[in-house]
Amino acid sequence: MIILKLGGSLITDKKKEFSIRQDVIDRAAREIKEGAKDTQLIIVHGGGSFGHPVAERFNIQDGFKDKKQIQGIVLTRKAMTDLNQQVITTLLDNGLPVISLQPSAFITCSSGRIDRFNIDIIKRFLELETIPVLFGDVVLDKKQGFCILSGDQIIANLSAHLNPKRIILAADVDGIFDKNPKKHASARLIKEINQNNFNEIYQNLEKLEGDVTGGIKNKVMEIMNSKTNQTIINALVPGRLKKALLGEEVRGTKVIGKTGK
Ligand code: IPE
Repeated sequence: MIILKLGGSLITDKKKEFSIRQDVIDRAAREIKEGAKDTQLIIVHGGGSFGHPVAERFNIQDGFKDKKQIQGIVLTRKAMTDLNQQVITTLLDNGLPVISLQPSAFITCSSGRIDRFNIDIIKRFLELETIPVLFGDVVLDKKQGFCILSGDQIIANLSAHLNPKRIILAADVDGIFDKNPKKHASARLIKEINQNNFNEIYQNLEKLEGDVTGGIKNKVMEIMNSKTNQTIINALVPGRLKKALLGEEVRGTKVIGKTGK
């Protein structure tokens, strides 16, 4: 089994609210069709310029403080449904048997961390030879009313229960860099993050503005908590996603989680 994250910065244009990169999703769908023919697959996508700006405007990431936020929950949910709808339609048009599963209907959190996750739902859809598609979502939270659940935390949790052979994070950059590659031309790609170099790298990662789930810093932390190693690749480069799905070496960053499988 492979778990694939389609990052929000890949499938949307983060600079412009509610703008989808249809050409990118189209190519990704074709590469998934060719690269994941003979394996079970779960897809999780991010929020990008759909989920993040709305959640930020209403401070959804801080939990329930004020009744005005209810409108924010509703609108964040709607933004994610709209994005998911477009992703699902493109995957279906490319012949992938995808089933959209809304995380907030079967996952809950406590203080921002998953406390209940009906994994059986995923297992049974996989048994039916469909491809479950989940996404970062606004979910119920026992301690703080609601919270934003990132696709990355969903993946860490899935990996603990389902033991996938590979996890691929498809991004719009080649992997994790020592500096933000979008701002610094001298940024150097880090080929591997493991227990030995994690602390040093983590300190240097920048928090991104307009990212309610903590940006790259939080993603790396989630991966370190994950049971399965993850490879971050640049799916804007044609062919890389297909190769990564097939298990071929591609330029990227490999993150070795705690148990280093
Ligand atoms: C965010 O999910 C979901 C919402 C803002 C509702 P992610 O944190 O997984 O999204 P990206 O990949 O960073 O955009």
